[in-house]
Amino acid sequence: MIFSFTRKLLQWHAANPRSMPWKNTKDPYKIWLSEIILQQTRVEQGWPYYERITKKFPTVKHLANAREEEVLKAWEGLGYYTRARNLHAAAKQIVNDPEGKFPSTYERILNLKGVGPYSAAAIASFAFDLPHAVVDGNVFRVLSRYFGINEAVDSAKGKKLFSELARQLLDKKNPADYNQAIMNFGALVCKPSTPECAICIFKKQCIAYKTDTVFELPVKSKKAAVRYRWFNFLVLENDKEVIIEKRTAKDIWKGLHQFPVLETVSYQAQSDFLKAWKQTAFFKGENIKVNGISKVIAHKLTHQTIFAQFISVPISAVKKPLPEGWLRIKKSRLKTFGFPVLISNYLAQFRNEEDGSK
Ligand code: ADE
Repeated sequence: MIFSFTRKLLQWHAANPRSMPWKNTKDPYKIWLSEIILQQTRVEQGWPYYERITKKFPTVKHLANAREEEVLKAWEGLGYYTRARNLHAAAKQIVNDPEGKFPSTYERILNLKGVGPYSAAAIASFAFDLPHAVVDGNVFRVLSRYFGINEAVDSAKGKKLFSELARQLLDKKNPADYNQAIMNFGALVCKPSTPECAICIFKKQCIAYKTDTVFELPVKSKKAAVRYRWFNFLVLENDKEVIIEKRTAKDIWKGLHQFPVLETVSYQAQSDFLKAWKQTAFFKGENIKVNGISKVIAHKLTHQTIFAQFISVPISAVKKPLPEGWLRIKKSRLKTFGFPVLISNYLAQFRNEEDGSK
């Protein structure tokens, strides 16, 4: 039997295709890589890493035979290096297995190092069309809202309830499409803080929508963990001028100004940070002389802690025209722009430049 939820979701999926490079393959190795990458990054951010890693290690054998440093290098920037080490260990597990090929049952996939129930269901369904339903944050959100379930998703009871419901709703003849559909739906429509209820296909059925509890669901019993973010600011400057930009993304500090920033998920040593910046298109040459680097500044917000570092380099290192949105201004004008407290503190404490005295 197929539920109306499932039927409508599949119709939505067919009408709203989302292209992702790992969707053009049934190769379990590539699907596994994509799922491990996507455990910690959003699709848009994970995409270039997927391209880079599959190019460097086109088969599980290549990955198994690589040196650990090479694997970590390819993973550089993704953070959570344990995941890269597990990936490497699992690749060896696969090639050393007497069968010598990627495991093709849910249980054996689950046995791979670093693979939990969510990734095992994703790989089993996407690569082998096995009827296993994924249960991740997207699924908790979509199902808790549609069915109006206020059982905590991180309680034992909640986990059991949602897994059972997900199992029942799965289109067993079409598990890959169904799993991809619910994940995409959660990522694109039933979003955590900006759900698209007005255009949602489930407006008439969704209990949360009808009872105005969309933002209360899903329920979590544990307090949300604090999010840690690393802001690596590049202070391009000479005696009189400096480059700033306005924050325009839907994020903290929208509309305020900052120095051009590279955000990462973990600490970056100065050399890694500079290397990452040099890979952007804005630099003239290889050698950038560093004027100075601030110590790491921790800045606490309600649900996030920002760690920031400021690297000062000569303004002459950057090509013209400047990237869109970058402003080259006189330092004496700094005080006319709005900055987050973190940056004003940096300017006041570390540089004493807010009054343009330098
Ligand atoms: N997140 C984890 N796996 C995903 C997938 N296959 N598609 C989109 N988002 C995902």
